[in-house]
Amino acid sequence: MTKNVGVLTAGGDTPGLNAALRGLGKSAMYKYDLQLIGFYDGFRGLLHDRNILFDDSSLSGILTVGGTILGTSRDKPEKMEVGGKMQDMRDAMVETYHKHHLDVLVCMGGGGTQKNAYSLMEKGLNIITIPKTIDNDIYNTDVTLGFDTALGIATEAIDRLHSTAHSHHRIVVVEIMGHNAGWLALGSGIAGGADVILIPEIPYDEEYIAEAILERSRSGKHFSIVALSEGAISKKASKLEEKLLSVKRDAKDKDAKKKAKKALADFYADQASRSQYLSQRLEELTGLESRMTILGYVQRGGTPSARDRLLGSMLGGYAADLIAEGKYGNMVSIKGQDIKPVSLKSVVNKRKTVPVDHLWIETARRVGTCLGDGNI
Ligand code: F6P
Repeated sequence: MTKNVGVLTAGGDTPGLNAALRGLGKSAMYKYDLQLIGFYDGFRGLLHDRNILFDDSSLSGILTVGGTILGTSRDKPEKMEVGGKMQDMRDAMVETYHKHHLDVLVCMGGGGTQKNAYSLMEKGLNIITIPKTIDNDIYNTDVTLGFDTALGIATEAIDRLHSTAHSHHRIVVVEIMGHNAGWLALGSGIAGGADVILIPEIPYDEEYIAEAILERSRSGKHFSIVALSEGAISKKASKLEEKLLSVKRDAKDKDAKKKAKKALADFYADQASRSQYLSQRLEELTGLESRMTILGYVQRGGTPSARDRLLGSMLGGYAADLIAEGKYGNMVSIKGQDIKPVSLKSVVNKRKTVPVDHLWIETARRVGTCLGDGNI
């Protein structure tokens, strides 16, 4: 019997999403005779029923294209701005689902999307998810779609920064995405040969970094590359954050709560300029000239790597298998050489950060990279 399958892409775009759509769609059509309806711009398209009925031709020629042909948004079903107000729009989305007689909705996205998809599952929808984010921080899968491409882009950027840092005898602080996980900065830092790598999982001390850079200078290396993950935090700031969080937790009345919330928001706003601050601080501490550069959205843009095309095709195709078997409520996960379903419940509200004893950390230390914590 033909099944009706809805699909959407949500959260930050990543290269490889179109490969996953194609993998799902072609497999659905050729292998299983499933009908695939795409909803535009994440959960918002589901709410407003903006859709496309996929056929063979609309899924052709997209394998190598970056971004997502469906468009995306960061809208949350449970808390969506509609008519100037934040509202729970899940019931309206459930209506769209039934209007199209869908058997399942496939949601491709990062940690937030897994959670949002789960919130629709709690409303009775059949859901399957595909893990995608350049941050590689989704729980219960070894790897996420888009990470490999971003890793390549960040590594190439570090390569390019080497020649300019070297020519000017400068420190270059390069800020790399990754949200609150250090995978991207650590991986690209090792692959690109950064001299210092700073990740959220290891709070850093500016003095140790300065000392490592001066040591390089003394040995005749008059430039240094500092790969700074966007979520990295200094030991001092980390202590302050803990304190502010505990003040917020213990706040007794409304006024105290408001004050604590504001102090925390100010703290995070300050942290947003961490690259600039660190660059200036290293200049002061070392007496060497320093510059900073933020890689930003180039890390998510453009053509997917071969590995992400392959991964997208596998994840999409496997999702079609799960649909045919009626194995709903799962995320398609990569474990070692295996692809398999893991329950969506096991994934939500968790984050896969870099374990401090991870092989990549050991590898960085082995080649003498400073991780900002004074350990060798
Ligand atoms: O989650 C992917 C990501 O690119 C993060 O690395 C980054 O912190 C965030 O998205 C940026 O979000 P936005 O696209 O909403 O600015």
